Amino acid sequence: MNAAQAQSVQDIHAFTEQAREAIYQAIFSRRDVRGQFLPTPVPDAVLSRILTAAHYAPSVGFMQPWNFVVVQSGAVKQRIHDAFAVAHAEAADMFEGDRRNTYRQLKLEGILESPLGICITCDRERTGPVVVGRTHMKTMDLYSSVCAVQNLWLAARAEGLGVGWVSIFNQPALQQALGIPKRITPVAYLCVGYVSHFYAKPELETAGWLPRLPIEELVYFDQWGQHDDQQALIGHLRRDQAEAQETANRALMHSR
Ligand SMILES: Cc1cc2nc3c(=O)[nH]c(=O)nc-3n(C[C@H](O)[C@H](O)[C@H](O)COP(=O)(O)O)c2cc1C
Repeated sequence: MNAAQAQSVQDIHAFTEQAREAIYQAIFSRRDVRGQFLPTPVPDAVLSRILTAAHYAPSVGFMQPWNFVVVQSGAVKQRIHDAFAVAHAEAADMFEGDRRNTYRQLKLEGILESPLGICITCDRERTGPVVVGRTHMKTMDLYSSVCAVQNLWLAARAEGLGVGWVSIFNQPALQQALGIPKRITPVAYLCVGYVSHFYAKPELETAGWLPRLPIEELVYFDQWGQHDDQQALIGHLRRDQAEAQETANRALMHSR
């Protein structure tokens, strides 16, 4: 295959340049939102689109193990917030010294401020005990529900909605707050709503908690731990990581 043939194979199924840019814009400008929620209601048409995006996630053996508990009741949100508050206090005690004080100052949820909560779950028994693809690595069903979370998160970003994943719960307390049966695993509790603004970088990065890792240090060749600085791919990765941040910055400047 010559270079021209190779190019036409690449192009034949690719999205248009504009559509590709939109996908990367959603990926690079998506943020975990905690503190910027507006009370503006989310129209059902928009909620329906992001839930449908979630439902079109890949799943092991096409199990579709998810359910979506849409939370709109203030009383239910309060129960969830109460469960968060208990776990959050426990969590603070797990960090030492300065880290503990910094942890306490982090805003890690928007449960009461966001107009919607969505709990995405995993029914590990949905299609019986033997599932194509889950025969040996048993956690694949949970990962499938995580794929649904990510689909929803990206679709929401494209719709101008912020999403914040809250995971600081004792699992039984979260289940009780939402009436989720024991056999169902809650995978994510998401706060969803329109926002006053998005940040260009993760809040934990800006707060100095952790930096974004250079991608070229995370990619190995042929064997675990094997770096190869001579590979042309390394140069691409460095440039693309820098460009990803530029894309996030531009998305903020151009947001309507
Ligand atoms: C599995 C998972 C659980 C998370 N739990 C929380 C949480 O409890 N509270 C919170 O503020 N952020 C939570 N986050 C958001 C991360 O802190 C956030 O994704 C990370 O700092 C990167 O920032 P970004 O999403 O804005 O790029 C969670 C993210 C994931 C993927």
